[in-house]
Amino acid sequence: MFPHTCLCFLLFQFYASAASTSTASSNDTLTPTESIIDGQIIVSAGNNYALGFFSPGNSSYRYLGIWFHKIPETTVVWVANRDNPLNDSSGVVSLALDGNLIVSSSSDQRHPLWSTNVSISSNTTAMKLLNSGNLILYDGGKSGNMNKVLWQSFDHPTHMYLPGMKLGFNKKTGLNRVLISWRSKNDPGRGIYSYRFDRRGSPQQFLYKGSAPLYRAGSWNGQRFTGIPQMTQSYLFSYEFVNTSDELYTIYEMYNSSIFSPIVLDDSGAVHRMTWIEKNRQWSIFYSAPNDRCDYYGHCGAYGSCRTVNTAECDCLPGFQPKSPTDWYLTEWSDGCVRKRTLGCGKGDGFLKLAGLKLPDTSISLVNKNLSLNECKRGCLNNCSCTAYAPADITGEGSGCVAWFGNLMDIRYFSEGGDHLFLRVDAVELAAQARKDKGFFHNKGKVAILTVSLVVGLLLFMASGYGLLEKRKGSMEKRQRRRMILSFDFITNEKFSAMNELEDNGTNLELPFIELDVVVAATENFSPSNKLGEGGFGVVYKGRLSNGKEIAVKRLSKNSGQGMEEFKNELILIARLQHRNLVRLLGYSLQEEEKMLIYEYMPNKSLDYFIFDKNKRSLLDWRKRFEIIMGIARGVLYLHEDSRLRIIHRDLKASNVLLDKEMIPKISDFGMARIFGRDQIQANTNIVVGTYGYMSPEYAMQGLFSIKSDVFSFGVLLLEILSGKKNNEYFDEDPSMNLIGHVWELWKEDRVLEIVDSTMANNYLAHEVSRCIQVGLLCVQESALDRPTMTSVIFMLGNEKKMPTPNQPSLIINRILRGQDSSTTGTGSSSVNEVTITVLDPR
Ligand SMILES: *[C@@H]1O[C@H](CO)[C@@H](O)[C@H](O)[C@H]1NC(C)=O
Ligand SMILES: *[C@@H]1O[C@H](CO)[C@@H](O)[C@H](O)[C@H]1NC(C)=O
Ligand SMILES: *[C@@H]1O[C@H](CO)[C@@H](O)[C@H](O)[C@H]1NC(C)=O
Ligand SMILES: *[C@@H]1O[C@H](CO)[C@@H](O)[C@H](O)[C@H]1NC(C)=O
Ligand SMILES: *[C@@H]1O[C@H](CO)[C@@H](O)[C@H](O)[C@H]1NC(C)=O
Ligand SMILES: *[C@@H]1O[C@H](CO)[C@@H](O)[C@H](O)[C@H]1NC(C)=O
Ligand SMILES: *[C@@H]1O[C@H](CO)[C@@H](O)[C@H](O)[C@H]1NC(C)=O
Ligand SMILES: *[C@@H]1O[C@H](CO)[C@@H](O)[C@H](O)[C@H]1NC(C)=O
Ligand SMILES: *[C@@H]1O[C@H](CO)[C@@H](O)[C@H](O)[C@H]1NC(C)=O
Repeated sequence: MFPHTCLCFLLFQFYASAASTSTASSNDTLTPTESIIDGQIIVSAGNNYALGFFSPGNSSYRYLGIWFHKIPETTVVWVANRDNPLNDSSGVVSLALDGNLIVSSSSDQRHPLWSTNVSISSNTTAMKLLNSGNLILYDGGKSGNMNKVLWQSFDHPTHMYLPGMKLGFNKKTGLNRVLISWRSKNDPGRGIYSYRFDRRGSPQQFLYKGSAPLYRAGSWNGQRFTGIPQMTQSYLFSYEFVNTSDELYTIYEMYNSSIFSPIVLDDSGAVHRMTWIEKNRQWSIFYSAPNDRCDYYGHCGAYGSCRTVNTAECDCLPGFQPKSPTDWYLTEWSDGCVRKRTLGCGKGDGFLKLAGLKLPDTSISLVNKNLSLNECKRGCLNNCSCTAYAPADITGEGSGCVAWFGNLMDIRYFSEGGDHLFLRVDAVELAAQARKDKGFFHNKGKVAILTVSLVVGLLLFMASGYGLLEKRKGSMEKRQRRRMILSFDFITNEKFSAMNELEDNGTNLELPFIELDVVVAATENFSPSNKLGEGGFGVVYKGRLSNGKEIAVKRLSKNSGQGMEEFKNELILIARLQHRNLVRLLGYSLQEEEKMLIYEYMPNKSLDYFIFDKNKRSLLDWRKRFEIIMGIARGVLYLHEDSRLRIIHRDLKASNVLLDKEMIPKISDFGMARIFGRDQIQANTNIVVGTYGYMSPEYAMQGLFSIKSDVFSFGVLLLEILSGKKNNEYFDEDPSMNLIGHVWELWKEDRVLEIVDSTMANNYLAHEVSRCIQVGLLCVQESALDRPTMTSVIFMLGNEKKMPTPNQPSLIINRILRGQDSSTTGTGSSSVNEVTITVLDPR
């Protein structure tokens, strides 16, 4: 059975075999005469942990590991031979002659698969599994006392950070304790993610993917990591940061050692704190990073700051502007920001205090704990390459000094908590900020309300202006026109910059006024042959200016009661919006009763023209359709979150998505769009405008609209693009069912790919398409709360991460609007009658 026993070079009294192994005398220790074979386990004295062989997930390989003994769901906390598994269940753990712990196959003990690397003076060693989960090799020395630790698994962690474990450096020996993820649930081998200290500057904890930083918990501010504001003192555990001349590490202890709450770096590259909830018999995750897009390292580039709610995701720090403005507005932020003006270097420079943020990457910083904050400021001011400073310890008034020399990277704002940073800015910026602080908009809380009401007031003012305009004609007109432009200037220059908390660099987006005769000439007097389509409020014509440039002219119909309102609305909104996926307004024309909006010309007309046409839709393959869906999603996201205002479009539909010559989708028709205040969640209207098939139930029935009603319309549009069918088209099998209902039925039966447009002829990846359909179904869920935001939609479309399962979509809406089944839906049709429904004809 042991062909090489005589050659067992270092094995000490190796008796291991399936038949004749003597079991450990004391259940938590292993002495040199003993070994454990696959199938046997060692249990720590308090029963918390067990050591033995296991196979992860569906793997058949065997690994030596430690797991929670009390928890029924096997949760491995440490693995010995993670990169060298056993093929079969012949594994043996034993102590070799030289005192090392080895894992080998019983048929080949000469070549251990894994081994510790220690050297000892005597042979009275022992291995013990402590109740903390630490596996220790002792050197008993001559006395045999087992007090000198030769080796411990806590010094060689795998993917789990347990209480009592030091994560970090021993500066004397060079030992660095890092977490390294598993490769997958089925393979505990070293994966690509690691969580570790970076010692440069003020030491920081980082999550790396390979050698690239993925997430930064950041530096220690005396109380917590700057990147984790919620890491305040917990009643569950204590957390300590230790930096001495010998060591640099963090350590935590549970106040109640029978609560299991380890930190794990999982195979998908996320760091969680998970806690065993005995009542539910399952793990519950209560902290996880990276948690949102702002958590990804350097998301907004140098001198950019990231925010997650309601506003543009990335902003430049005060005194800075986008380095590549075009990319920046296309939400490609990685280039970051540059200074607007060069620094005075001692002449007039100063510092702005930014609050509530995650301090920038401190690997380029210098730390001096002995300085006061004032000395810190002086020191930083006197050296022109110092870009910012902050206290090293925020306890009390704040003390010590961290000063940054170089680009400030990876700054984000938090909705609660966060640190202060003193940012170096030039004299002009300093003065501008001082004005702002003294000025009218002193109280930040008031700004949103004030500006919103100011804008509303302005709209009313302009509306009355238009009332006048329509009554008095002729000579008055030029002046009125001027007045309108002036009002525009007023809005663009004053109010919009006030709304934008950071300084606007003053670009004036004044729209050109185009004379009526120019438009008449361009469209050959609105010749029917130039007609492109007909929208809710008028006809759209193609035109060609004398310089050859092609334009699209939307001529608002004279007798449309709402025409003027929509005109102003669209003008005001779209003039300030700039995004690759929104149609661009080139100018406007206004004379007597003629109101016209001039757009860039879209040679490929609109999406409905393609997807609902049985010949044309074969031109759109899966890739193209996916790009169009992503483009629309980005456009809507921009309206909802990234532009300076929150805008609800309210009439997203295939005919309102135009296609340029590269088939890039552009959202158009802002006639019904509404501006929301930053914190406004939903609004109510008693005139419901919209289009059959695209209206969310709460909007159609109660007049409630929110970003989630746009998300609903987007979901419908997505399903239409994939299926080539209109949502409100009848299906032969079940006339009461619309497209959503049909997709839902197929989804439940796991046959959802049957809905895919047959002209795509299986030229697609099934998992991508079904992922897309799942996103569509999530968007059309009955409950607005369940529907994802556009940020999540884009994330889900672009990532392979797991998604929620959709709930029942809104199926009743179509029936009610069609007057069918209304009595059986339970919702009743009476609620519909409380509001006026104005349904616009699709073009
Ligand atoms: C140690 O005790 C546990 C029960 O507490 C038992 O399952 C296990 O087999 C024992 N291990 C050995 C090596 O005897
Ligand atoms: C184990 O499961 C993974 C997916 O989780 C799969 O890719 C792999 O092929 C499976 N391996 C075996 C041996 O079944
Ligand atoms: C695992 O199996 C392969 C072939 O089946 C063999 O070549 C290899 O040596 C085995 N490894 C171990 C550690 O037993
Ligand atoms: C074992 O430790 C010695 C020094 O203690 C070192 O030189 C050697 O590289 C180590 N071997 C392994 C495989 O880590
Ligand atoms: C190891 O222990 C054995 C007795 O158990 C003894 O005979 C031997 O000399 C010891 N070896 C060393 C290196 O101390
Ligand atoms: C950490 O300790 C070292 C050595 O004692 C010291 O030089 C350094 O400034 C300390 N860093 C921080 C951030 O406290
Ligand atoms: C520790 O937690 C356990 C399990 O939740 C509980 O039964 C016990 O009372 C706690 N002990 C203390 C001292 O709080
Ligand atoms: C900080 O002050 C302590 C004594 O208060 C001194 O021992 C230490 O050297 C000083 N450190 C620096 C970096 O000046
Ligand atoms: C500014 O600080 C940097 C970093 O400490 C240093 O290298 C440089 O010499 C300093 N410059 C001046 C003018 O003091």
